[in-house]
Order: sequence, then C-alpha cells, then structure tokens
Amino acid sequence: MKPRVRTAVLVSGGGTNLQAIIDKSAEGAIPSAEIVVVISDREGVYALERADKAGIPSEVVPFKETGRGEFERRLAAALESRGVEMIVLAGFMRILSADFTAHYPNRILNIHPSLIPSFCGEGFYGLKVHKAALDYGVKVTGATVHFVNEIPDGGRIIMQKAVYIDDNDTPETLQKRVMREAEWVIYPEAIEKAASEIRRSK
Ligand code: GRF
Repeated sequence: MKPRVRTAVLVSGGGTNLQAIIDKSAEGAIPSAEIVVVISDREGVYALERADKAGIPSEVVPFKETGRGEFERRLAAALESRGVEMIVLAGFMRILSADFTAHYPNRILNIHPSLIPSFCGEGFYGLKVHKAALDYGVKVTGATVHFVNEIPDGGRIIMQKAVYIDDNDTPETLQKRVMREAEWVIYPEAIEKAASEIRRSK
C-alpha cells in the first residue's frame, strides 16, 4: 500500500474546519491523508490548541512581522522539512503568491463559504460573503472546496454543497448554517478525494 499523503493544515483562527477534519480522520474517513503539521500565521489562535489536543505537531510562522516574502520562505522551509505533499487551507486568512502556489499545482485546497463563482475573490471573506449573498437576495448559497492557484478563489472546483437561505437569516446565522451543513461535511470528503488521487499517482 502506498503511504498516506503527508498533509499540512494552515490556519489563522478558531479552526472549526480543522476540527471537522481531525474528527473525520479519527473516524477513519480520510484514509489517504495524514495530517503531519498544523501551521498558523499568528500566535494564540484556538486552532493551535485543537492541534495540540489531537496530538498533531504545530508551528507558528508569523506573517505580520515579516511580510509575505519572508513568510513564504519560512513556510516553504517548514513544509519541506516535514515532507509535506498537500496543503489544506482552513480559515487561513492570507493570500499566497503566484510563485508559491505554482510550486504546489493541484496540491493546495481551500474552502470558500459560497457557491463559487458567486460572492468570491479578493475582499470576500468571513461574514462579508454571507452579507453579500443576503444583500443580493439569492435563495441558495453553500460552500465550495477548490484547488488554489494564483487567482483568489479561482482554482478548479473539487466539491460544492448547497444550503437554502431562510427569510430570517442574518449574516451570522447563515455563516453558522453554511459551516454546519456544508463546510464541515464536504471539506473532509474533498480532502480524501484529492489525497486519494495524489496517492494513486505516487
Ligand atoms: C470558514 O468560513 C471558511 O469557509 C473560511 O474561513 C472560515 C474559517 O473558520 N475560509 P474556521 O477557522 O475553520 O472555524
């Protein structure tokens, strides 16, 4: 049997998607990938505690103090030293450069809380995405897992799941429902799908 795909999860915040991935992995639902490290671009975020509790090594590679060039050099070194083959962005709030993403073609995954190509691209993050969907008046939104390339939210789509909007929804209630009904469901599935393809090609 070929070895599992060595995977890094990059985070910046609470890490509920990371938790969903950890839980599904513990259930045996992501047999093709092994999370070898969790990397945060800032100290003190709860996602790091989640990694600790799950016994997964973690690292902080600071962004703010150094800027993107130095950040990406240190990130690349951390990934290389651990033999990382696939990168999962889970609430990671930085945009990676074209140079960086070119090193990992079809090897970086992201989840976006809308049905791409709606409400996505630069500036669409967090509650802004859900506010834009409500302001537009769409009746269906959802989440999209896609590969990351040089265009923000522009890489090939791996999986999507729709979520119906209620008349009473606020950006906050919609954000929670999209996470529960779509993000936490499809991210582990999409990771397994991408990892199994990488594993087959090894
Ligand atoms: C999620 O809404 C995800 O779609 C977006 O950032 C949020 C991360 O939340 N990319 P968490 O840190 O996984 O809880």
